[in-house]
Amino acid sequence: MVSFPRGPYPTTRMRRQRSHHQVRRLICENSLHASDLVWPCFITDNPQEEDKIDAMPGVKRYSLTQIVSAVAEAEDLGIPAIALFPYTLPSKRDAMASEALNAKNLVCEAIALLKQHCPNMIVICDVALDPYTESGHDGVMRGDTILNDETVAILQKQAVLMAEAGCDVLAPSDMMDGRVGAVRSALDQQGFSDRLILSYAVKYASCFYSPFREAVGSNMFLKGDKMTYQMDPRNSDEALHEVALDLQEGADWIIVKPGMPYLDVIHRVVDEFAAPTLAYQVSGEYAMIAQAAENGWLDLDRAMMESLIAFKRAGCRGIVTYFAKQAATLLQGQSG
Ligand code: PBG
Repeated sequence: MVSFPRGPYPTTRMRRQRSHHQVRRLICENSLHASDLVWPCFITDNPQEEDKIDAMPGVKRYSLTQIVSAVAEAEDLGIPAIALFPYTLPSKRDAMASEALNAKNLVCEAIALLKQHCPNMIVICDVALDPYTESGHDGVMRGDTILNDETVAILQKQAVLMAEAGCDVLAPSDMMDGRVGAVRSALDQQGFSDRLILSYAVKYASCFYSPFREAVGSNMFLKGDKMTYQMDPRNSDEALHEVALDLQEGADWIIVKPGMPYLDVIHRVVDEFAAPTLAYQVSGEYAMIAQAAENGWLDLDRAMMESLIAFKRAGCRGIVTYFAKQAATLLQGQSG
């Protein structure tokens, strides 16, 4: 609890410290830098002419030939990391998510290409099966049940393959139990003890992911919801339990997702564990701001920056956001 030793009004006038923009700059409690940002990007091996995503105005999918320059631009803007998400054609999906274990799949090729051309850019990849299952779920199934341990065994191999391709940060986003420890030991056994694990420790079963599901091509497949493995939006003690387990299992960093509707959870996690915590401002959050701006209802730059500083205020070390490049561009022209 913060104490306020100052006297009451009129001795104290709070407006004095808001009186001039330089005063405000000097005493501001939080600031946003390009180094706080992670740019999530969609890749495809079936590029369409204008590979736009309807529900995400301004976001597109990149072919392997386009992704290198797009990532180089992000690097020039001072963005330290990207997160790669593949769009998968229906013909490459099956019950066992076998494409996840193809060492020449789109993600592995993209990682290798990026590490060759932009070696300083940190590459983060989802460890999860939803781009590859015919059900659109994050795990393999028996009947209607998502199988935990069988899925984790595949995730271990998926993580090792991506590490072999050069991935710096493996990000299990599937919400299976025990997967962080399992992925850590698989990486260590294969000589990848240097690779980080960013655990999507706190991932809610959220409606705000639906534009993303369009972007990766899983929306038309998804049967039912993800409530049996992603978290119930009514809970936050449970989030602390998830984070505690993942840190014990070897997670280096933690992610809370979605972001804006869960700032209270971010704050609790940071307070409790002080581990590097990132927020994922997910596709639906992006869509709300981008579309409102497109309609002329919000000022895009201001809405974007206000939403991003909220994550810093809540205690995040980093933010995964589709606005990363726009925000970094804006920050370049600002003195703070
Ligand atoms: C899948 C995954 C999802 C997102 C990132 N990884 C969607 C889901 O769980 O259905 C969502 C990101 C976004 O909405 O921007 N493991």
